[in-house]
Amino acid sequence: MMPAAKNHYSSDGLVLVRASVSNGRIVAEIPIEELRRILAEGNVVILKGVFAPDRMLELRNAVRRWWREIPEYPHGKSPTTTPDVNYHRIDRGNYQSTLPHIFHQAGFNNLSILEDYVSGAARETGELMRDLQNTVAETDFDFAVTGLRIKVLHYPSGGGFLTEHAHPRLPQGVGLITSLSRLDVDVKTGGTTFRTPFGLVDTHDTHDIGDVIIFRYDLPHAVTLVDEGNELDWNSDAGKWSFVLDLRETHAQSQAHASE
Ligand SMILES: [Fe+2]
Repeated sequence: MMPAAKNHYSSDGLVLVRASVSNGRIVAEIPIEELRRILAEGNVVILKGVFAPDRMLELRNAVRRWWREIPEYPHGKSPTTTPDVNYHRIDRGNYQSTLPHIFHQAGFNNLSILEDYVSGAARETGELMRDLQNTVAETDFDFAVTGLRIKVLHYPSGGGFLTEHAHPRLPQGVGLITSLSRLDVDVKTGGTTFRTPFGLVDTHDTHDIGDVIIFRYDLPHAVTLVDEGNELDWNSDAGKWSFVLDLRETHAQSQAHASE
């Protein structure tokens, strides 16, 4: 997929860049100024191989355990009304939403009161992503009721999806999506798509476990139907898993984007 001798590879609107964790930070193998320029032009960047797959599976399993042990957040009430509560909820697509979707979501609003077996792994990955977010976008967000929160999303095989939508570009600047699912093992079809100035970019065959997508936050994006035709089983971990950072103040401003 990526030529061994180069540190990045690009096709229309999609740029793959090798990256790693070094001295407690995510470091891409291109200069930060180049990364910012590529993103500002509207390219989608995938940082390849940032996190070890085993760590991502541990994180995912910890989240699944938490889902089994903690009662589900009730439908008919918005989690934004309880901004200090860690919650999870299965959204089966049978409640009206401005952004139709099917996924199981966790919102880690308060890491300090989150159970240890999940908060350690969530914080480790989340802090590295927070630093990357702030470095690339030249922002200074923290995990707080007025700042960022962690979300983990499981789009189940046989039905998971998220309608195309867009966020305001500022103040977040960029969005990050870390994959916790293995291509071909957990998920075969369905992935995050972006409407870029260079055309539609579909990351389903390149965004593997431990890779981090970075995109300019105002690019319309969606998750296409995951493994259509499979039987949907909420007890199975098959499907697509995403770990994202969500800035509270822009969450409510996400707009459905009419497809052309
Ligand atoms: Fe989004």
